[in-house]
Amino acid sequence: MSANQDLATLIRAGTPLLVIESTEEKRVVEGFRHAIAQALRPLYRWSITAGLERLDMQADADEAAGAPDATLTLHAIKAAREPGIYLLLDFQPYLRYPMTLRLLREIVQRDASAEHTLVLVGAAIELPDELATAATRFEFALPDAEALAALVREEAFAYSRGHDGRRVVVDAEAARAVVRNLRGLTLEDARRIVRKLIHDDGALSAADLPELARAKAALLDRDGLLHFEYETAQFAGVGGLARLKQWIAQRRPAFLGQKLPIRLDPPKGVLLLGVQGCGKSLAAKAIAGGFGVPLLRLDIGTLYNKYHGETERNLRAALKNAELLAPCVLWIDEIEKALATAEADEGVSRRVLGYLLTWLAERSAPVFLVATANDVQALPAELLRKGRFDEAFFIDLPDAATRAEIFGLHLARRALAAADYDLAALAAASAGFSGAEIEQVVVAALYAAAADGQRRPTQAQLAAAIAGTRPLSVMMAEQVEALRAWARGRTVAAD
Ligand SMILES: Nc1ncnc2c1ncn2[C@@H]1O[C@H](COP(=O)(O)OP(=O)(O)OP(=O)(O)O)[C@@H](O)[C@H]1O
Ligand SMILES: [Mg+2]
Repeated sequence: MSANQDLATLIRAGTPLLVIESTEEKRVVEGFRHAIAQALRPLYRWSITAGLERLDMQADADEAAGAPDATLTLHAIKAAREPGIYLLLDFQPYLRYPMTLRLLREIVQRDASAEHTLVLVGAAIELPDELATAATRFEFALPDAEALAALVREEAFAYSRGHDGRRVVVDAEAARAVVRNLRGLTLEDARRIVRKLIHDDGALSAADLPELARAKAALLDRDGLLHFEYETAQFAGVGGLARLKQWIAQRRPAFLGQKLPIRLDPPKGVLLLGVQGCGKSLAAKAIAGGFGVPLLRLDIGTLYNKYHGETERNLRAALKNAELLAPCVLWIDEIEKALATAEADEGVSRRVLGYLLTWLAERSAPVFLVATANDVQALPAELLRKGRFDEAFFIDLPDAATRAEIFGLHLARRALAAADYDLAALAAASAGFSGAEIEQVVVAALYAAAADGQRRPTQAQLAAAIAGTRPLSVMMAEQVEALRAWARGRTVAAD
């Protein structure tokens, strides 16, 4: 069923209030023109600049447009005897006034009013409770794969027409991937991106895919809630966490939807809990790297602060956008901050949690959720219940072998040959250090070397840097111990 038929059905069914969140007014109006061709009802559009206008027929010259005033318009609609469809553009600000709200309710409840269909159209529409229950949200379907493939062909032709018939070099496999990745964009946005990808180098190849992912993420994330993380990591750069690495490797084919001999449930997500600085954030990045998909970070602080009162709508939009960027990893850092079960927030955090968990169970696209948390006490029990996440991993302080590995990794990252150092001795001297602290030791030793006019730190300089560090696990021994005790039995060790 196409979107237009859906719409016609909704209108025929006498839906009193439709809500359409869209900035593409033209498309919305066109959609209604098509729909009413079947529903045979008068169609009106109201905006503050033009007032009320009839759209489904040539208005008589003397049938002047109605007043732009919102209240007068609602009075007129209420009094109109013939049931009509009224598109109210950018009506959101008027929902604050008791008079408009009351009139809207009366029309919607058909208190002495014909069976009108009111349609609120705007970028972001939050309804007060008394209207929300009566409202039906509707979305226009975005272009499908066929339309997008046609668009890619058109743009390739257009390029060669503009370049003396020079053909665009198209890698068929890459072109299919481009079309797949354009899903979720409007036709105009998709066209702009494809044009740029082709014009860059007269070709469409696998090399265009990262740029496409970036452009798409930027377009979808106008609210700044979803950050496209340019830097993913590779597991090769992460010390330890053997079990987590293996877990991800085993699930990669199923996550990417590859053909498998037996049907496996695609993985949904993991919760990473652990001691500060031991690599939770790093692991989230490496999971995206391990799956070979983009990493999106959901900024939960912004979700709560910047759009006070619109938290749920924004979460809904962000999760939908993440699905449009699938396959991808969605990372929620410090999830406990968002879900603190404060009574003061009028139940918002509980609803956010509920929404998140429902989405996790029902999401329709391969989006792998990685949630990280430090403060486990603040985590609501629902989050840890079996079956929510596929697994909860605990990332503990690294053991001696892993510390040696992490020293090796951070030395190598700074072009220092690990073989020149006694890593076992460094590991032995740094018991209780986190990965972050080990990295700081390497950095500090490099400074000490530079102060001596050397390029490479000596073993003794590294040892001195270790001796000069008071690791967090010592300063906060009780908290770390409590965290470990809590994790035992509730989580699986990542290493
Ligand atoms: N296992 C590890 N292997 C390699 N490097 C590590 C490891 N753990 C931590 N590091 C280094 O420490 C840095 C900080 O770690 P990261 O930010 O991932 O820790 P975190 O657990 O997210 O800490 P926080 O609780 O403070 O958010 C990493 O960028 C990395 O350079
Ligand atoms: Mg972190």
